[in-house]
Amino acid sequence: MISVKECEKLIRPKLSDARFYHSQCVSKEAAKLAKQYGADVNKAEIAGILHDICKETPIEEQLKIIERFGIMMQETEKKTHKLYHAISGAAYVKHIIGIEDGDIIEAIRWHTSGKKNMSLLEKVVFVADFNSADRDYPGVEEMRRLAKISLEDAMLYGFAFTIAELTKKGVLLDLNTAEAYNDIVLCLNERKERV
Ligand SMILES: [Fe+2]
Ligand SMILES: [Fe+2]
Repeated sequence: MISVKECEKLIRPKLSDARFYHSQCVSKEAAKLAKQYGADVNKAEIAGILHDICKETPIEEQLKIIERFGIMMQETEKKTHKLYHAISGAAYVKHIIGIEDGDIIEAIRWHTSGKKNMSLLEKVVFVADFNSADRDYPGVEEMRRLAKISLEDAMLYGFAFTIAELTKKGVLLDLNTAEAYNDIVLCLNERKERV
């Protein structure tokens, strides 16, 4: 398996100082959450360090990567440029860096929108992206508190935050995000009923 240091060398020329630092912080946070919730720590730190690899790549170039590897996007994804870096990033990591681990690739693929039935590693990277040490937004302390309780509690907060932001701005809501939100609500409801 590729090391975090090797990944750092690969992302460094592609990212600004702030984004590079963010990636390091997400990697560390993902490793911490993986330890806490029983996910693969090594995969979590690799997915974390690589998750924003294409975030600063021009949109046209990202589209080329997406098309070159025959990735189909849904209609709302096509119209939401913010989601491109997760799709192109997953393709880049798989086809250009040559990472074969599907769990890592999928964790990168879904780190922005989320989706229903997320794997443990996907959840870990998703939450780590919200919680990393460099993050400073209204609500980050609550997010960090919830992440100590359960990944799903933190995710509900994360999705609600994202959906509120999108609807406030009047921009498209990705269908995967809506499905992810419903999925987490159902999961937490079931958990409540069991208690
Ligand atoms: Fe991202
Ligand atoms: Fe990120």
